[in-house]
Parts: sequence; C-alpha cells; structure tokens
Amino acid sequence: PLTDVTNKSLLPVYDKPLVLYPLQTLLDAGIEDIIVITGTEHIEQMAGFLGSGSQFNCRFSYRVQDEPKGIAQALGMAEEFVGDDDVCAILGDNIYFDNLSEHIRNFTKGSHIFLKEVTDPERFGIAELQNDRVVSVEEKPLKPKSNLAQTGCYVYDHRCFDIIRNLKPSKRGELEITDVTKWFVEQGEITATMLEDNWIDAGTFESLHAAAVAVRAHRQKIADTAKNAGMQSVKKEKTTA
Ligand code: G1P
Repeated sequence: PLTDVTNKSLLPVYDKPLVLYPLQTLLDAGIEDIIVITGTEHIEQMAGFLGSGSQFNCRFSYRVQDEPKGIAQALGMAEEFVGDDDVCAILGDNIYFDNLSEHIRNFTKGSHIFLKEVTDPERFGIAELQNDRVVSVEEKPLKPKSNLAQTGCYVYDHRCFDIIRNLKPSKRGELEITDVTKWFVEQGEITATMLEDNWIDAGTFESLHAAAVAVRAHRQKIADTAKNAGMQSVKKEKTTA
C-alpha cells in the first residue's frame, strides 16, 4: 500500500523523503546537472517535489521509464543528456553515510564502484577481489564469491552507453547494471572504494525502517559532537579568562 500512494523514493526516512539522501551524495560531489528517471505512475509527484532544482542549486531534467526493465535500461535513457561526458548514476533508494565526493571528482576513465560488506549477498550485485582488484561481478548470485556488494552508485565513462545498447536482458527480464560493470571488469578498467561507514539500500520494509533509525542516530551523534565542542570552547574561554 505504501507505494500505491507514492514512489518508493519519496517515502519518509526520519525527517525527509528517501530521494534527498542520494541527491545529497551527488550534490556533495559538485554535480549540478541531474536527470531523474522514474516510472510513469509517479513522475508527476517526483517532478512536483523536486522541481527545477533551483532550491537545491542544481538543474533537473526528467525522463519516464515506461516499464521497469532494469537500472541499465534507465541509465541508457540518459545517453543524450550525458553526451561525451562521464556519468555518475545513483539509485533513488540508496543512502550513503560515507562522503563519496573525492572518488567521484577524481574519476578519469573506465569505471568506479563502491563496495560494502553485507550479510545477505544473494540480494545484491557481488564483486570478487584479488589483491584489492575487482576480478568479477555477478548479479544476485546463488553462490556468492564474496560478501562485497556493489552498492548503488556507479561512475562510468561514456562508453557505458555503447555497452547498454548491446546488453541482453537477464533471467529476470532486466538490463542489469552489473553487466555494464562486468564489461569494465573484463577490460581491466575498474577501480573500487570500500565504504567505511554505514550504507543502506532502503528498498525493503526492514531496511527502510533501519535507515530511519540509522539517520536519527547519525544526526544525534553530530549534534552531541557539536554540543561537546561548544562546551569545550566555553571551558577554554573560562580558563583563559
Ligand atoms: C540493485 C542492483 C544491485 C545492487 C543494488 C544496490 O539491486 O541490481 O547490483 O547491489 O541495487 O542497492 P535491486 O535494488 O534492483 O534489487
């Protein structure tokens, strides 16, 4: 029923709609031109909420994905928008507590992905490492080769669009983003960052709830640190006085 009334990405996570978290990850990296791709049912709500982007100091374009035929298909719809540039794609239900901006800004060629250890690897795209190098990626493997999930932020150079044009649908009938990454793995043109802090794919009821709890705890920690820092400086002033 929750997604009968709105898009999953507009559901609340603590004090704001889910989509604002991945949006902040892009904004932190200095990305100002953003294309939002979503299904037909909720495009109106999404565009109505995000608007032109002026309130976030960015510019939004919108495209509708008629049928849910995969993340790679959605990314393919951004081809004209991206042109010859590199692209950073982020899923509307992924929340990062790490700051990814340095890795996104420093990207030059090939692809860059962000990995996180998970306890349920069958649910994700899984990367296998050898001596810190990504040697394979597999979407929702039955027998995972590791517990390192490829999280939902992908940096690719514009060759990703040629790859998407030649992709075949997977068993679940979708063009898989993991197959795009796989091509870069095969070329040996991939780098990966291991996330240090929490990361949540808020796409299930459990993880949506966990996300709200984690964001609340994170905010509390920041507030406490600021308060303690304030108290420290007051103490210092008193002693100097
Ligand atoms: C998608 C990707 C998967 C990735 C995950 C991250 O899965 O297909 O590779 O690990 O996002 O959130 P989905 O949300 O479609 O199940």
